[in-house]
Amino acid sequence: MKFFIDTANLEQIREANDLGILDGVTTNPSLMAKEGITGEEAVMKHYKDICEIVDGDVSAEVISTNFEGMVAEGEKLAAIHENIVVKVPMIKDGIKAIRYFSDRGIRTNCTLVFSAGQAILAAKAGATYLSPFIGRIDDMNWDGMELIKQIAEIYAVQGYETQILAASIRNPLHIVKSAQFGADVVTCPLSAILGMLKHPLTDIGLAQFLADHAKANG
Ligand code: G3P
Repeated sequence: MKFFIDTANLEQIREANDLGILDGVTTNPSLMAKEGITGEEAVMKHYKDICEIVDGDVSAEVISTNFEGMVAEGEKLAAIHENIVVKVPMIKDGIKAIRYFSDRGIRTNCTLVFSAGQAILAAKAGATYLSPFIGRIDDMNWDGMELIKQIAEIYAVQGYETQILAASIRNPLHIVKSAQFGADVVTCPLSAILGMLKHPLTDIGLAQFLADHAKANG
């Protein structure tokens, strides 16, 4: 399973990249706004900066909601760097845009996915990645992981090549379960990645090893 970081914060991207386990980055308009990146020029430069830090796929989301707008924006974004993946919302014109990009060799990430029906449409349109939003489903008292399982089963049965990119990840357990249930990729905040390191028995065991070593070696 590939690990992406879900942020537009360059410091956090560098920190995750330095761990040596990072395969890519996803962003969205909210994450860009959080970093204060506004205006076309600044947005384009920010994506270029991210591509220079990480040697892997970088999802850049379109703002337009009509086919022509998405195509124009997506072509500009794709021209920034070969690692850019155009992120397109799961709406009618989005499906048309994914088909357009797919026919021209431009890779896509279909975002805001909350059902298996949407996942089938995105795969049929030729999406490279599909982003089901696990945490937001859990927030609604449903089980986001059940959706990952269902999509993984459908994609396997049908032989769809679209990769399942579990998004809206909130904690380490989401990552573990995504791996267990067949996600191809998880995109996570840095806190969830670092949270996977934690276990009290590791800390206790290490303290004991160091104490024993110190006693034996004076
Ligand atoms: O990749 C989509 C993700 O950023 C949404 O996460 O935490 O805003 O639901 P969240």
